[in-house]
Amino acid sequence: MMHWRFGPMPEGFHHIPEPTDDTGAELAAQLDEVGPERIAALVLEPVKGRNGQPLPDAYLRAARAYCTEHDILLILDEAFTGFGRMGEMFAAGISGISPDIMCLAKGITAGYSALGAVLATDRIYQAFDSATTVFAHASTTDGHPVACAAALATIRAFAAEDLVPRGRVLGRLLGDRLEDLLKGTPVLGGIRVVGAYVGIDLLDREGHPISMRDRRHLEAACRRQGLLVHYTPDTVMLMPPLTMTTEEAEFAAETFASVVTALGPGFGS
Ligand SMILES: Cc1ncc(COP(=O)(O)O)c(C=O)c1O
Repeated sequence: MMHWRFGPMPEGFHHIPEPTDDTGAELAAQLDEVGPERIAALVLEPVKGRNGQPLPDAYLRAARAYCTEHDILLILDEAFTGFGRMGEMFAAGISGISPDIMCLAKGITAGYSALGAVLATDRIYQAFDSATTVFAHASTTDGHPVACAAALATIRAFAAEDLVPRGRVLGRLLGDRLEDLLKGTPVLGGIRVVGAYVGIDLLDREGHPISMRDRRHLEAACRRQGLLVHYTPDTVMLMPPLTMTTEEAEFAAETFASVVTALGPGFGS
């Protein structure tokens, strides 16, 4: 979706197609074709933010096994999936794998401040911690105290308020409620719940995914009613704060359903 819009792309990256089965078997063949001795790292997004589609567990386990066997670093981009969004603290935990490097952002401060972080194993960290080496890249706001204070407060809240299970409850609540409110409406293509992520696929009068213009109208109409939603070309998403109350979740589901019911007949016109 993105690459054709931007360029020039840095060299040295090889893109592998999305898996077509659940077994992870094709991954080894794809990496063998590149040549494991030429691969420094494998970068994966465990659940695609664009549509909430998780990589199969077997695929992630196959990725971990291949990387371990060939001394390749496994990097998971958990900017979107990290901090409870997928029903576990990190999506890696769903498949029981552990990456060598993990990229984090978004939920690390519950959105209160802009912060990104890169976690690495001790083995990797050692490479930047000798008498002669240094982590050479830097940015103006590295380790910004306000952002770090927001992250520490967020991490404390995760522990004190048991927010990860709460996220799972919220996701199911929103998904079930939306299913009740929208089932039978021709506009509903499907609802996907992964942890505290709810993806709603909407269809126009001809049964095609709704256009980007319809998505923009839907987002604006929800916002006018006090509900923030996000959309991609594939889906419309509800990603509730993990502290959302049951009453707020009820409001979110009812508001979303009423906006879809009002606008739906006009989708595609
Ligand atoms: C999966 C994923 N990775 C990376 C990013 C970019 O993160 P940042 O803006 O913190 O660099 C995003 C932002 O939307 C994302 O969803």
